[in-house]
Amino acid sequence: MKTLVISLGGSILIKTTQENRIAAYLPVLKEIAARHRLFVVVGGGGGARTYIDVARSLGLDEGTSDEIGILVTRLNATLLLGALRDAAYPVVAMSHNEAKKYGESGKIVVMGGITPGQTTDAVAAVLAERVQADLFINVTSVDGIFAEDPEENPAAKHYSRLTPAALVKIVSEKGLTAGSHTPLDITAARVVERSHIPLVVLKGTDPENLSRAILDGKCTCTIISETKKKLLPL
Ligand code: UTP
Repeated sequence: MKTLVISLGGSILIKTTQENRIAAYLPVLKEIAARHRLFVVVGGGGGARTYIDVARSLGLDEGTSDEIGILVTRLNATLLLGALRDAAYPVVAMSHNEAKKYGESGKIVVMGGITPGQTTDAVAAVLAERVQADLFINVTSVDGIFAEDPEENPAAKHYSRLTPAALVKIVSEKGLTAGSHTPLDITAARVVERSHIPLVVLKGTDPENLSRAILDGKCTCTIISETKKKLLPL
């Protein structure tokens, strides 16, 4: 049994009432949790962006807008947790300490954001350190890390393997361009570098991509690790 921390983007999990993948993720998360200890950190997605835009339009400061974003991530976490029913610990963890404690139940632990000034990727990266995860998985809208935004340039170079140092370099260079899109934030990339915990970045629009990668070792993704050691399947 391994310990896994998954950062599940809010835009992957829920777009609208009609377009959400919560039900589709349930069997996948349960299948993984039957074999491994599982922590899921849920993002805010489009809902968070809507609320943050309204907060900014009202002249609220960035810290308050972040607090509103955190509430939306927790709202999404509450939805997933409720839908998982008995498979999940029944309370959304509000801190890394709580997540660690809830993990002792053997159930899936679900949480959202915790601190202003970051995203749930960073929350998940630190959680991976705190629970000494064997693997950190970032589930996003693209097939991993690319040299350019693949949604803007479909011919962008895809990296199947990167070292943590190369990841930090790519993410920090992209962060300099206004409006640039990276599947992982810089804080999370730096935590990955210092923790030595391997990271897999994969596309989650098809939830089975996640189980195929973890349980069958089949993925079109980016694997970030210091060694060339075979990581998947677990
Ligand atoms: P997300 O982690 O969802 O950001 O947090 P995102 O980049 O939009 O990710 P996707 O689309 O879900 O993949 C939403 C917002 O909530 C605040 C930030 O403002 C962030 O942009 N937040 C979240 C925090 O301030 N702290 C946290 O710990 C988490």
